[in-house]
Amino acid sequence: MSPSHSTRFKNPRAKHDFVGRTCSISGVGSYVPAKVLTNADLARMIETTDEWITTRTGIKERRIAAKNEFTSDLATQAALCAMRRAGVTADQVDLIIVATATPDMPFPSTACLVQRKIGAHRAAAFDLEAACSGFIYGLEIGQQFIMSRTYDTVLVIGAEKLSSIVDWKDRNTCVLFGDGAGAAVLQNRPNSHGLLTAVMGADGRKSDLLFMAGGGSRCPASAESVAAGLHYLRMDGKETFKNAVQAMQTAAEEALRRCEIDISRIKCIIPHQANLRIIEAVGERLGARPEQLFVNVQKYGNTSAASVAIALDEAVSSGQIQRGDLILLVVFGAGLTWGAAVIEW
Ligand code: UT7
Repeated sequence: MSPSHSTRFKNPRAKHDFVGRTCSISGVGSYVPAKVLTNADLARMIETTDEWITTRTGIKERRIAAKNEFTSDLATQAALCAMRRAGVTADQVDLIIVATATPDMPFPSTACLVQRKIGAHRAAAFDLEAACSGFIYGLEIGQQFIMSRTYDTVLVIGAEKLSSIVDWKDRNTCVLFGDGAGAAVLQNRPNSHGLLTAVMGADGRKSDLLFMAGGGSRCPASAESVAAGLHYLRMDGKETFKNAVQAMQTAAEEALRRCEIDISRIKCIIPHQANLRIIEAVGERLGARPEQLFVNVQKYGNTSAASVAIALDEAVSSGQIQRGDLILLVVFGAGLTWGAAVIEW
C-alpha cells in the first residue's frame, strides 16, 4: 500500500487497505441504444411540452432500445467495453453481477445470458434487484468477494430496458425514463487505488412509492392484469422526490464520514440521474460546488441501475476524472433503496 493511503484513511471501515488487498476498478464501459427520443417527439405522443419536461426534470432526450434489443444485449455491450479497457479476457471473469429491474425474463437471470454472450464460462452469475440503487449494491457485493479472497475479477453491470415497462400513455412517468447500461471490472490490485467504502440502505415501508405490481407471484400475467396496466411502473413522484433528496444526502454523508473525507476534497460527485432538481438539491445539502456535480440526465433521462454506471464511464472518458481523484457515487431508488460509494480513482 502506498504511504499516502495509510495516512489518509485511518477509519477501519474504509476497506481500501484491508488485509493487503485493494478492490480496484480496472475498467469501466457503457452502452446506450442508438434511437433518440426527444421531448419534442414525446409532445407529439402525449399532452406534454419540452418546456415542462426541461424545467421539472432537466431531461431533453432519452435512448430507446430496439424491439429486438434486450437488457442482456445492452449489458453485454457495456461489459465488453469495460473488459477491453481493463485488459481482461472472458475467461478471467470470476463473477458477473447484473443489477436490473428489467431482466430479459424472470429467469434465468440476465447475468447468465450475459455470461453466455461474452463467453465467460468460468464465471458465477446472478442478478441483483435494488432498482436504481443496484449498481452501488453491486459494487459493494463485488468488493466483498474480492476482499474475502473468494474472487479476483468481478464484473458489475447496471442495465435497463425501462421502455419495456413504461406506460407510454402516462405523462407522469413516461417522460422520465430511458434505456442503457454501464459496467465496471473490479479486481484485486495491491498497491493500487480503488473502492474505499460503499454504503447501502433500504426502507421497505415505502415500497408503494415506486413499483410495478404485475408479473410476479402476487399478480401473475393474465388478460386482466394486462388490461389493468399492472405491467407498467407507477410512481408517486412528489414523495419519491422528497425521499430521494433526504436519503441521498444521508448516504453520501455516511460514506464520507467513514472515509474521513470532507466533501471539498471530492473531485467529482456522480449522483443518480433521475432529475436535475434532485441532483442540485443533494449537491446543495452536501455543501458541494456546482462544478463538482456530474450531470448527464439531459441526454439519457433516468436509466435506473445503469444511471451512475453510464455517468462514471462518461466522466472517466471525458477526462473529468483523473488517476488519484476522489469520487463520490450516490444513488436512490424503488424499495426504497439507497447507497453511496467513495472511490479513489
Ligand atoms: O429513480 C427513482 C427516483 N425517481 C425520482 O426520484 C423521481 C422523483 N420525482 C420527480 O422527479 C418529480 O416529482 C416529477 C418530475 C415526476 C414531477 O415533478 P413535480 O414538480 O413533482 O410535478 P407534479 O407531480 O407536482 O405535477 C405537477 C403538474 C400536475 O398537474 P396539476 O395536477 O398540477 O394540474 C401534473 O399532472 O404537472 C402535470 N404533469 C405534466 N405536465 C406536462 C405531470 N407530468 C407532466 C408532463 N407534462 N409530462
